[in-house]
Amino acid sequence: MAATGRSRRTKVIRVDAGRPDPSVIREAAHSLACGGLVVFPTETVYGLGADATDSRAVRAVFEAKGRPPDNPLIVHIWSPEDIAGLVTEVPPAAAGLMSRFWPGPLSLVLRRAARVAEEVSRGLDTVAVRMPAHPVALELIRLAGVPVAAPSANVSGRPSPTRAADALADLDGLVDYVLDAGPCPVGVESTVLDLTGPVPVVLRPGGVTVEELREVLGNVQVLEGPATRTRPPGGPGVAVPDAEAAARSPGLRHRHYAPRARLVLVLPDTRRPDGPERTAAVVARVVAGERASGRTVGVACARETADLLGRAGDWRSEPLPVVAWGARNEPGEIAARLFAVLRDLDRQGVDVIIAEGSSSEGLGRAVNDRLGRAAAEVIEAGDDGGPPAETPDTILLICSGNTCRSPMAAAILNDHLRRAGLDRAYRAESAGVFVPAAGPASPEAVQVMAERGLDLGNHVARQVTAELLDRTRLILTMTGAHKEAVLALAPGVADRVFTLKGYAGDGAGSGQDVGSIASRAAGDISDPIGLGLEVYREAADEIEKAVARVVERLTNLADLRELIGEPEGPGEEKQP
Ligand code: TXA
Ligand code: MG
Repeated sequence: MAATGRSRRTKVIRVDAGRPDPSVIREAAHSLACGGLVVFPTETVYGLGADATDSRAVRAVFEAKGRPPDNPLIVHIWSPEDIAGLVTEVPPAAAGLMSRFWPGPLSLVLRRAARVAEEVSRGLDTVAVRMPAHPVALELIRLAGVPVAAPSANVSGRPSPTRAADALADLDGLVDYVLDAGPCPVGVESTVLDLTGPVPVVLRPGGVTVEELREVLGNVQVLEGPATRTRPPGGPGVAVPDAEAAARSPGLRHRHYAPRARLVLVLPDTRRPDGPERTAAVVARVVAGERASGRTVGVACARETADLLGRAGDWRSEPLPVVAWGARNEPGEIAARLFAVLRDLDRQGVDVIIAEGSSSEGLGRAVNDRLGRAAAEVIEAGDDGGPPAETPDTILLICSGNTCRSPMAAAILNDHLRRAGLDRAYRAESAGVFVPAAGPASPEAVQVMAERGLDLGNHVARQVTAELLDRTRLILTMTGAHKEAVLALAPGVADRVFTLKGYAGDGAGSGQDVGSIASRAAGDISDPIGLGLEVYREAADEIEKAVARVVERLTNLADLRELIGEPEGPGEEKQP
């Protein structure tokens, strides 16, 4: 049966979502077991299923979707025990997650066993497995008697289908059956969690939230998508470099979820008290701009924004299609309608969809991730040039490998900033001048920080880049050599790079000039790596002393700025 050229006769079968009748599903299950393609509902989105042990059937899935060949599929099972034949080992962390979240929207990436067709994993030695929480999906897999490889049932790159009609619109004639059980309740896909490394990594945020995972695992890292990379959601995020992200989850490279219309994502202003009004005003401005250029526009936004939009502009001459897809603080509501709304606005034929992002807690992370990947343009409503700058300026701490000194310094500095009430103005981050691999902080650094009540468990070492330096307000290095390395990379930042002790105004290392070898060493925080806990504690004390002085300077600067009303950065100021 050739999959190309819409050669299949797609049969649509209505199924009761809560109590599916096996006799209605049996036909489709039989087809699935014999190499056919079946679209079925899950609690997240509709899936396009094939027998995961049948290479030919799996290849047909890729053809039907036009899916890039390097993007692996998730294998769906009927009961947790069925994972046994699919992976070489179920680590204890996986077992704990399965008992808490299965059936449910969590896909676990583990080492692949030989039974899974190689086509499923596209050259990776891992496989993603999940047990869906939809009665129809479970009944279908049970009756088919095989593990089911299933991507979302959309043509590659389009919004995922949360209604059978959406799947049919993309795949009619390319699949054998569509089981229609109404809309999918969750609306965004499963969370993909990689358990094959030293620390669990969320490769794709989804139906199970990062907060829920942390309750079970403690330490979880998150790959940040395009919309969240510049502004970490709900506190400092852990951005894993793009290249590493691509290697771990090849699918992330590709453009996703995009409606036909150009999508402009407006990230709401969630910081200022008048954030909702500002957000509505930004949306109204973008609408006006697009219309002035002759384009038709549709808006998808929070209910509160929709209400305010009426007041933000006069839409009487040309009515504005506005879909309120949920309450501002209920990302679950937005998630459930997200893809359907994008498809509906597409169907109305607008040229541009202006979509408001969600608050970034809970399911909002998944919502913003999907919108960020679909967007041609991202606008931060909180960044509209209004007074005062509420997005904190970044202070970047630099050492060699970004596993000991600089992550400790960033944690200590953030703590001091918070205590000085400066955490809305500044946020510390860290990076290294030579980071061979994105890994965690050293165990000693983690412990010594824990002793101070500070958490380095989520740290991921990253390489400093010219781009990162460019968008940083103040750069503080552990040693003079690090400062030179920074300047070699980005000569343009000369006015805002200092050694930590130099900026703190400490003894020998103070001036901007790092002269002789002797003075350079005296102004350095030396590397504790490999030297035991006691040396780490000393390094942390030395860092803390300098950091306290830095925060003192920043406090004076803030007072000064307020006094003279000058928006001056800390690095543009003279040395004390
Ligand atoms: O909720 C869902 O997960 C839906 C329903 C149908 O279950 N399925 C789904 O599949 O969203 P798909 O193919 O659209 O997305 C699968 C994601 C991709 O980002 C892919 O790169 C990642 O999972 N993935 C699959 N296997 C992987 C593996 N072995 N290692 C890393 N990432 C993997
Ligand atoms: Mg997909």
